[in-house]
Amino acid sequence: MEKFLINGSYSKGVKGTIRCSGAKNAVLPLMASSILFKNTITLRNVPLEANDIKTMIVLLKSLGSKVEILKKKKILKITNKKKHQLLVKYKYISTMRAGVLAMGALLGKYNKCSTALSGGCSLGPRPIGYHLAGFKKLNCKYSLKNGYINIEAKNGIKGAEYYFPTVSVTGTSNLILASVLAKGITILKNISIEPEVLDLIKFLKNGGAKIYLTGKRAIKIYGVRELNGHSHEVIGDRIEAFSYLCTAAITKGKIKVDKINPKYLRTELKVLKNIGCDIIVNKSSIELSRKKKLKPTRIKTSPFPGFATDCMPMLMAVLTRSNGISRIEETIFTNRYMSAPELVRMGAKINIKGSKAVIIGSDFLNGADCISSDLRSTFAIILGAMSANGNSCISRIYHGLRGYSNLYYNLKKIGVKIKKTS
Ligand code: EPZ
Repeated sequence: MEKFLINGSYSKGVKGTIRCSGAKNAVLPLMASSILFKNTITLRNVPLEANDIKTMIVLLKSLGSKVEILKKKKILKITNKKKHQLLVKYKYISTMRAGVLAMGALLGKYNKCSTALSGGCSLGPRPIGYHLAGFKKLNCKYSLKNGYINIEAKNGIKGAEYYFPTVSVTGTSNLILASVLAKGITILKNISIEPEVLDLIKFLKNGGAKIYLTGKRAIKIYGVRELNGHSHEVIGDRIEAFSYLCTAAITKGKIKVDKINPKYLRTELKVLKNIGCDIIVNKSSIELSRKKKLKPTRIKTSPFPGFATDCMPMLMAVLTRSNGISRIEETIFTNRYMSAPELVRMGAKINIKGSKAVIIGSDFLNGADCISSDLRSTFAIILGAMSANGNSCISRIYHGLRGYSNLYYNLKKIGVKIKKTS
């Protein structure tokens, strides 16, 4: 399995420009929504190298979709040739949580499907109780058999009202996908307003869906007869942008990320400014440099527009080099600190107690052998390795390749002393 070898002693002061990819967590629901459309949908700015996208392509093909990949142009064209298969196999869900989005789309189009129940992952249990409770409200009945949810709306999906107990990103997208072709009106409350969800709503509306924001976290959906395919530019990946800005924060470098809307990172950029980074924001780019000593801070993760849980592991890595004691509280997942023990192997002082982390900044880290365990932890460990003295060998890097396109190339391009080994 591929490993990254990073020599932090020669990775200080990274410099350069990173062109952000399309957002993985926006593309996945957009791809699943293709099942609902009468004809071809075209997605532009697709991060085709991200492994989750490749998995979703194979999943859609297994259902009967025709998928055309224009690699150089980063374009995906998806056409529904015939009636889809209604079985979403476990092998597509076990490595990619977003496979659950096929359930909402298949229900929306065919009122019926069998979808494997996704396993947990290193972030903690990944339940879908809110998704299922919402589908039940929409006139569905389901049963669990041999690890598959068999779900059906006998007389078709019927619009209803559903209130999410807590904000759920894919839960919101799944209920929207199930409702856009329903009979009647669906009202969803306490929804996720992550940019990726709003991008899905924009895409569906441009295809003829009738979806209206009726409150800060509420939408009203009038079911329509059909959706017409069209072309859509996927929004930039805010988590990827934040990740690369942190390379400059932790190595006293200067990085510009472009093809990103800075509005998606308002909260996170404020935190980076507060800890001593200089940030220049333009219409579709962000530039970060750092000359001063890093200051400690305290953050609590929460759904957008709060501090993104996906950005937290990278900030934690940066804070290991700050001048003081920082505190983090993670409110979304039960096990989001998987990079902490790896950074501690490099000499970082991080104390985890339940959902809270206390980070005592240190003057230096030493390279160490590390193991990556999930997508964002991978980048957090890379940040530690870049700022440490000496060599670090990071194994199970495939976790990072799920969501970061051209990871090795981009790190090399900004001046990280990195080699690949197997
Ligand atoms: C999405 O996961 C993202 N994945 C995650 O990104 C991201 O970390 C997460 O949202 C939070 O922002 C995709 O969009 C593909 P949730 P999702 O449903 O939708 C609980 C990455 O790094 N919950 O918003 O699975 C759940 O356990 C990935 O790119 C229930 O209890 O997350 C969690 O504690 C990792 N029951 C909280 O809600 C449910 O039915 C938020 O989960 C659904 C969720």
